[in-house]
Amino acid sequence: MPPVHNGARVSLGGGASMAPRRAAKSLAPGDAQAKVIAVAAQKGGVGKTTTTVSLAAALARFYGQRVLVIDLDAQSHVSLALREMLNVGGGSLAELLEEPTTMEVAEIAVGTRIDNLEVTPSCPELARAENRLSTRIGKELVLRGLIEVSRTHYDVILLDCPPNLGNLTLNGLVAADCVLVPCNPAVLAVSGVEGLMGAVEQIKGALNPSLDVLGLVLTRVDQRNGATNATIADMLRENWGELLAPVQVGADVALQKAQLEGRDIYAFDPDCRAAQQYSELAEWVLSRISR
Ligand SMILES: Nc1ncnc2c1ncn2[C@@H]1O[C@H](COP(=O)(O)OP(=O)(O)OP(=O)(O)O)[C@@H](O)[C@H]1O
Ligand SMILES: [Mg+2]
Repeated sequence: MPPVHNGARVSLGGGASMAPRRAAKSLAPGDAQAKVIAVAAQKGGVGKTTTTVSLAAALARFYGQRVLVIDLDAQSHVSLALREMLNVGGGSLAELLEEPTTMEVAEIAVGTRIDNLEVTPSCPELARAENRLSTRIGKELVLRGLIEVSRTHYDVILLDCPPNLGNLTLNGLVAADCVLVPCNPAVLAVSGVEGLMGAVEQIKGALNPSLDVLGLVLTRVDQRNGATNATIADMLRENWGELLAPVQVGADVALQKAQLEGRDIYAFDPDCRAAQQYSELAEWVLSRISR
């Protein structure tokens, strides 16, 4: 029996016992086990933030899910899009990413006027954190460490990724269980999907073997361009088969107006077409992650 000091068992052996202990987390574990979904696309402006925010609102409002949105984009578009719904508070994600810490992202999250929905806001310093991450050992694993306990407090964690494959998106993909890829019906957006899928394969091989592609979703689909939309949908289906969500989100100015007012689409106009489509998407996402 090895000796015990101050309640801690001390091993007399060498090797593993010499490894530095990780400091205990300041957040106590909860009873949940969140699915972590990175909403990512290499191309900008394809609807990542709109999808993250609307999906989060639908999951929390209609499907009883405890949801955390982590804004990984220094543009802070999640906070902007939900500014009238956010309670005051929240801490700096940049600080958590830059230096070793015992804190968790859930501890700097802020509540919203939507039951069961919390947000870990972004800040302009996140751009600096993206650079500083480059100098950290295990730089790809930082976010994964920061949600280790947080994920026991939610059913779903959505990561709104920036429009590139930099350190923050990389951290998102390494921390995630799966990735949801929004895509516009345009050939340039499809080429961005190919780039992202290549990155997902590499991350699976090197850093996160259990990373899955949850699906691709066509957003901002303008019904006036029926032939182009059908061609793009065929291209996506041909390459990625059943990964293409059966629900498409149409071009709907209500989403832009809701963001202008800083409210989620259900607070703005629960009856609009996009609100209905994002609820259907939420149902599809839930069915995929519960498989
Ligand atoms: N279905 C839609 N119908 C109409 N407008 C939309 C739709 N989806 C998104 N938009 C608008 O398109 C713009 C880009 O959307 P969004 O910010 O969600 O894209 P993003 O991929 O997050 O962009 P970024 O790459 O800059 O982070 C926004 O002005 C948003 O209001
Ligand atoms: Mg965005």
